Amino acid sequence: MTGRLEGKVAVITGAASGIGAESARLFAAEGASVVLADVQDDRGQRIADELGGNARFIHTDVTDDAQVGAAVQFAVDTFGRLDVMFNNAGRGHPEGLISDLKPEMYRESVDVLLGGVLFGIKHASAVMKAQKSGSIINTASVAGIGVGYGGTLYSASKAAVIHLTRVLANELGEENVRVNAIAPGAIPTAIFGRGGGMDQDAAEALIPILQMGFAKAQPIPRSGSTHDIAEAALWLASDASSFVTGICLPVDGGMTTGKLFSQRMAELGAMAPA
Ligand SMILES: NC(=O)c1ccc[n+]([C@@H]2O[C@H](COP(=O)([O-])OP(=O)(O)OC[C@H]3O[C@@H](n4cnc5c(N)ncnc54)[C@H](O)[C@@H]3O)[C@@H](O)[C@H]2O)c1
Repeated sequence: MTGRLEGKVAVITGAASGIGAESARLFAAEGASVVLADVQDDRGQRIADELGGNARFIHTDVTDDAQVGAAVQFAVDTFGRLDVMFNNAGRGHPEGLISDLKPEMYRESVDVLLGGVLFGIKHASAVMKAQKSGSIINTASVAGIGVGYGGTLYSASKAAVIHLTRVLANELGEENVRVNAIAPGAIPTAIFGRGGGMDQDAAEALIPILQMGFAKAQPIPRSGSTHDIAEAALWLASDASSFVTGICLPVDGGMTTGKLFSQRMAELGAMAPA
């Protein structure tokens, strides 16, 4: 099926890499005009060029309210409206124990992971309320659902994104503006290497290794992919989900259902009387 976003205009933050880049490709293939917003200018521009006339790149640091507002305005000025806002930009940091927390670590995480989503919803919803339609999608994480999938600040920020999604779905629903979240499981992208201090090229070179490592990280016996998340975002962006708002959709191969069944059985075996 194609054309599921025909005539729609989307802004995607964090679109120069990983989940955001794949979503930009899928949204464009489904007929959307797409504004790619990111701090990685060369890569963002290259992907926009690759997608052709209905894609544009704009430098956007999502921690800056004015820059997020400018990206939304750019979409409206260029394509005439805004139907989809995908607040997806994110990053990871090595985080230790709470006793090791430094104030700058708080700002580095929360400003991007929560602030970027908040500013995105603020600016997109102003346009969408006037249109009386729109779909806002926020990238959360399994780390926002359960404990043990990420660092303290990362996990707390992602949990806040899930609740923010519900709060604003309630506020904006009466204006026919939907707000939903996606909680990806383990998806091989540059975020892991970047979080460990690598540059983008080195972090991307790590992806095939992550893919092998993640194959057994969840019940479904394969690694997740950026395309899995992009397909979920496409559904939430499209009219097929027009009665869905306030949800957080895990796309995690069953990771958040708990330990693998085979692991639980092995543990039971270890506990069984001789
Ligand atoms: N990969 C996973 O396993 C996974 C799991 C759960 C959630 N997520 C979330 O998915 C989202 C996308 O991550 P990804 O895995 O595709 O990583 P990625 O590193 O491939 O892409 C993240 C993008 O966000 C951009 N970005 C970072 N800070 C920014 C800022 N201040 N302003 C604008 N852009 C900024 C980066 O430049 C990059 O292009 C993130 O919110 C991440 O937390 C990822």
